[in-house]
Amino acid sequence: MNFLSKFIFYLKKLFDLAIIICFISSTFLIQSNESLALSKSQGENLFIQHCAGCHVNGGNIIRRKKTLKLAALKRNGLDNPESIAKIARLGIGSMSGYEKVLGEEGDKIVANWIWEQSQNAWVQG
Ligand code: HEC
Repeated sequence: MNFLSKFIFYLKKLFDLAIIICFISSTFLIQSNESLALSKSQGENLFIQHCAGCHVNGGNIIRRKKTLKLAALKRNGLDNPESIAKIARLGIGSMSGYEKVLGEEGDKIVANWIWEQSQNAWVQG
């Protein structure tokens, strides 16, 4: 092979490699988008099943001031998903914990969803 054909040969290899990289990264992006959407609807489902009975629309039908709205969460020092997940697991005050029914990671999934809702004032669907 002369220099030029060698050069073209490697150029083609490089081109193939670039295509492969594009392909892999795009499937990865699609997957992570799907799993994001999945954990979002999982969070909503967990909330409906285990929390909405008392916290409908992020409120609190038992303790009026202990809502899941941003202002209340801030006032009570719970304005982060970790604190919400801990309460989901272990409960707080007169609320019991839901560790057993939420399943593995369920506390975090529902807490992330609640945290997101609180930042959107519980208005989005
Ligand atoms: C049977 C009713 C009931 C259910 C179901 C329930 N909670 Fe509660 N929740 C309460 C009550 C009552 C309080 C206030 C507790 C206290 O401070 O004495 C509370 C407080 C909270 C707080 C603190 C809010 C604040 O502003 O201080 C968070 C966070 C919370 N609940 C999350 C959850 C999550 C997540 C679920 C579902 C896994 C859930 N709750 C299910 C009754 C309930």
